[in-house]
Amino acid sequence: MTEAPLLAARMLCRRVRDGDHDITILDSVDIEIAAGERVALLGPSGSGKSSLLYILGALDSHYEGTVEVDGRRLDGLGDRALARIRNQTFGFVFQAYNLLGHLSALDNVLLPARFGDGVPNTERAREVLSNVGLGDKMHRRPRALSGGERQRVAIARAICHRPKLVLCDEPTGNLDAHTGAEILTLFDQLAEDRVALLVATHDEAIARSADRVLHLREGRLT
Ligand SMILES: Nc1ncnc2c1ncn2[C@@H]1O[C@H](COP(=O)(O)OP(=O)(O)OP(=O)(O)O)[C@@H](O)[C@H]1O
Ligand SMILES: [Mg+2]
Repeated sequence: MTEAPLLAARMLCRRVRDGDHDITILDSVDIEIAAGERVALLGPSGSGKSSLLYILGALDSHYEGTVEVDGRRLDGLGDRALARIRNQTFGFVFQAYNLLGHLSALDNVLLPARFGDGVPNTERAREVLSNVGLGDKMHRRPRALSGGERQRVAIARAICHRPKLVLCDEPTGNLDAHTGAEILTLFDQLAEDRVALLVATHDEAIARSADRVLHLREGRLT
């Protein structure tokens, strides 16, 4: 028997109401991601990249079609089970860094474990912050960090609990080329740890480094 893919979506459709009619923002999307695989998702603005990441990350359940994580269908699962999958299987790095301004980098990294059912592991949080090059800045608040440093805190937070899949939305969108390259190095480290990665991006360098590139256009994979 072959192993179930880490993530499999079939015939995904997402419609939204626009005045008196529906518009389709995702149309018949099929996608599979294996453990440790690195996939780049490219497409023009408005093509549906963020919408797709929300559905695959169990953050949006208003879709048609199926999503399976580790062979388990998401539809039919209750809020608690979905929250557990989000907390244990996924890491999220989204367009806005979503760091809390009154907490240090270290406390931001520890935050999901404090809210979820995991145990906050300060040792591990220090380790990942060191791995992203912020060992000497982990007690700073976000406003005392650069954009690239904040993005690295967001990545540290997303990988601290050792997820199987990290979903990233434009992780280098606001960064200069040098800092973008540093983020790419972090992704290489994830691949070595067999963490899968799905990255929505306009960044050619990220696309080149991926195992596979998917193109989304007007809600369809082309
Ligand atoms: N809740 C909503 N109601 C109406 N339209 C929506 C909603 N969410 C998304 N859309 C529309 O769906 C389309 C896809 O949006 P989405 O944010 O997924 O695009 P994107 O590919 O991530 O774009 P970008 O590169 O600009 O981030 C857009 O046309 C957007 O306006
Ligand atoms: Mg987007």
